[in-house]
Amino acid sequence: HPYFQFRNNVLYAEDVPLDHLADRLGTPLYVYSRAALKAAWESYRSAVGQRPVLVCYGMKANSNLAVLKEFARLGAGFDIVSGGELKRALAAGADPSRIVFSGVGKQAWEMRDALAAKVKCFNVESEAELRRLSEVAQDMGARAPVSLRVNPDVDAQTHPYISTGLKENKFGIAIESAPDVYRLAQSLPALEIVGVDCHIGSQLTDISPYFDALEKLLDLIERLARDGIGIRHLDLGGGLGIRYTDETPPSPKALIDRVFERLEARGLGHLHLVLEPGRSLVGNAGVLLTTVQYLKHAEARNFAIVDAAMNDLLRPALYEAYHGVRAVHPRAGEETLYDIVGPVCESADWLARQRKLAIEQGDLLAVESAGAYSMAMASNYNARPRAAEVMVDGDKYYVVRRRETLDDLLKGESTLP
Ligand code: LLP
Repeated sequence: HPYFQFRNNVLYAEDVPLDHLADRLGTPLYVYSRAALKAAWESYRSAVGQRPVLVCYGMKANSNLAVLKEFARLGAGFDIVSGGELKRALAAGADPSRIVFSGVGKQAWEMRDALAAKVKCFNVESEAELRRLSEVAQDMGARAPVSLRVNPDVDAQTHPYISTGLKENKFGIAIESAPDVYRLAQSLPALEIVGVDCHIGSQLTDISPYFDALEKLLDLIERLARDGIGIRHLDLGGGLGIRYTDETPPSPKALIDRVFERLEARGLGHLHLVLEPGRSLVGNAGVLLTTVQYLKHAEARNFAIVDAAMNDLLRPALYEAYHGVRAVHPRAGEETLYDIVGPVCESADWLARQRKLAIEQGDLLAVESAGAYSMAMASNYNARPRAAEVMVDGDKYYVVRRRETLDDLLKGESTLP
């Protein structure tokens, strides 16, 4: 991870030693690299070149305002899934004409807010949602731009919880029924059909499922054209994986080049492309710093009990996800196999298992690849204040979210009289 490197046996984020941040700001602490965000964005921007592609950051991966603002400044669009995300995106200066609104359960108030903001497109996932959107838009005297999210029934070969394009998933409209649902959309008064959308899964490390989906979507677009329904853009969702350990995910360039090859080969070169990458823009731009509280040598296992837990980083507990773990100050000496676990009262509260480390009580660890779906999925379980977040920029750093206080934990609640 180029922006998190050792110098003189200390792990740095860009030009800032991580132990310095932990001393100043405490742990658990999320540390992001601005240069890493920019580099990830650049990998998309340079792959796009002059072609008509809108890259909408899938902001559910990390919706810290400083992260959003950085992408907004770089010219990104945003893929939102709630009224709350719309609020955050607009607060960060997002251009509404570059916002697409995804999600299976949009409420009327969320539709109203998004229509008032004039977002680019609603990615609609059911007939019932189409009808509601048309009603809401009609009440406002507006027209809602829509794509249907179709479910192409392809196996993205990723973890079942993050695979979304199979028949069994709750997402999208079965591709066979899509022509009928498009006809319905066309007949409703306040809708304007603009695109076709899909999202087949996340952390994809193989490019072929995208192309299985693409061919099906292009068949659909041709069919719709024959029915007199014009499609302006094709949204292929997000999903490009990142390297957590030894994965070799496809690059944005590999994906985008091949998509345009296929569009041109099929005479559909006029289509605009929308992408919704989340993880691949932020995942390897962050680490979670945590301090070893205790070492516990039990009969069957050695445990390093740290001050970060599943409430800070849920991915291992929820998906058995792998995150690399490194000592910020590696020690010479014998390594021991540890399970790295948090203080939360759940056996699922682990961050990493069976890792060889030479560590002592009080040592600082960096949990890698913690820029995506990490702080974003944090909770207050076990009445734990959520961690602080800091953005490193060269040799400077900025606290971009202060640590929650114990008083924050009591906010908004009241007791009975
Ligand atoms: N667009 C839609 C409609 C999505 O549902 C998602 C992610 C994205 C874009 C962005 O996908 P990405 O490029 O990040 O793969 N919490 C899980 C990942 C859940 C992904 C949900 N949808 C994890 O920690 O692995």
